[in-house]
Amino acid sequence: MPAWTALYYDDPIEIVGGKGNRVVDASGKTYLDFFAGILTNMIGYDVPEVREAVERQLATGVVHTSTVYLLRGQVELAEKIAKLSGIENAKVFFTNSGTEANETALLLATYARRSDQVLAMRQSYHGRSFGTVGVTGNRAWKNSSLSPLNVHFLHGADRHLTRFRGLSDAAYIEACAEDLHHVLSTVVGGDVAALIAEPIQGVGGFTMAPDGLFAAYKEILDAEGVLFISDEVQTGWGRTGSAFFGIHNHGVTPDMMTFAKGLGNGFAVGGVVAGGELMDGLHAVGLSTFGGNPLSMAAANATLDYVLDHDLQANAARTGSAIIDGLREAASRLPIVGDVRGRGLMFAVELVDPATGGPSPALAGRFMEETRKAGLLAGKGGLHGNVLRMAPPLTLTPGEAAEGLGIIVNALETVNAEVVSS
Ligand SMILES: Cc1ncc(COP(=O)(O)O)c(C=O)c1O
Repeated sequence: MPAWTALYYDDPIEIVGGKGNRVVDASGKTYLDFFAGILTNMIGYDVPEVREAVERQLATGVVHTSTVYLLRGQVELAEKIAKLSGIENAKVFFTNSGTEANETALLLATYARRSDQVLAMRQSYHGRSFGTVGVTGNRAWKNSSLSPLNVHFLHGADRHLTRFRGLSDAAYIEACAEDLHHVLSTVVGGDVAALIAEPIQGVGGFTMAPDGLFAAYKEILDAEGVLFISDEVQTGWGRTGSAFFGIHNHGVTPDMMTFAKGLGNGFAVGGVVAGGELMDGLHAVGLSTFGGNPLSMAAANATLDYVLDHDLQANAARTGSAIIDGLREAASRLPIVGDVRGRGLMFAVELVDPATGGPSPALAGRFMEETRKAGLLAGKGGLHGNVLRMAPPLTLTPGEAAEGLGIIVNALETVNAEVVSS
């Protein structure tokens, strides 16, 4: 295994079982899962509706046919996603991952616009292939500067910089919009293909632009015909509570959305939804051998139906705000907490060294070990590895939300006490 596939915890956890929103490790210890396999086990573990849909498909004896034969599950899922997207005359192409989904969107945009120039956001993460590394603005995840694309990076999720600190939302949006105008009138050579952006930056530590920033960007981009790709790999399917797709929080309907992670509740599925003309624009034949295979389509159709039938977006709003409010209350008395942010069931706590105010990855490591001991799985991220990222399954109950919040606050208090007494 490569050295760069980093494991969490001093003594790594092997998960061997799961039910509801909890998992069990190889030693028999149970954890409330607040990271859900990096936001992917979206409706928890061992969900009968998903298991039975997959078992029905397995029982047919067919796990693969390829897209040269009709795949009913793809058509059904594409119709649902097209409708939910709000994109006019939408079409959907299925892939196996978020990386491939973003590659497809970038191909569509650069082809349609006959340009290799793309705009992306600082601190972003879009995948691990050449093209997606090219549009990634997070040095810790950027292995190469080689890129098939010509990329310029924009502001929008960096309000912590001294020059932006203290600005109101409106003033910050104005500063970012002015910068976009400046980029478009200075450093680009001819037409720009697209802007690709995460509505909430996942790997970046759940940093987010104020609502309305992407509407301001879209207005400027529309005037030049530049396409807008919203990377919904982490923010889709109601997770933010206030919208079904993260970008809808900005009142924007993008030209394309990419998705993956939670849709298959653990089965590999990703894809792009785009306007029909844009999607059909490629002149050559294309396919993804495994993309949209019958098993992942069975899982994804069952998962999406479950999310909609149980209105899990509303549950994310309710349980998420209870947790975020609780974290904010705790933060007000804990000097190690530099920031609490989030939306719905996607929330983060940034840890700082109280003496310097600087990022403290060491304290984040301590928090991880404390929550592990207490039986809760959390994630880490951010530019400096000091941001605790949490995104439980959308099926989280109010009781589990309270239990998880209690464990997190206790762990923060323990780590804070260690710092204060040292
Ligand atoms: C916002 C975003 N886009 C794209 C990706 C890449 O997805 P995958 O790992 O499925 O290729 C990720 C993965 O973490 C992501 O968070």
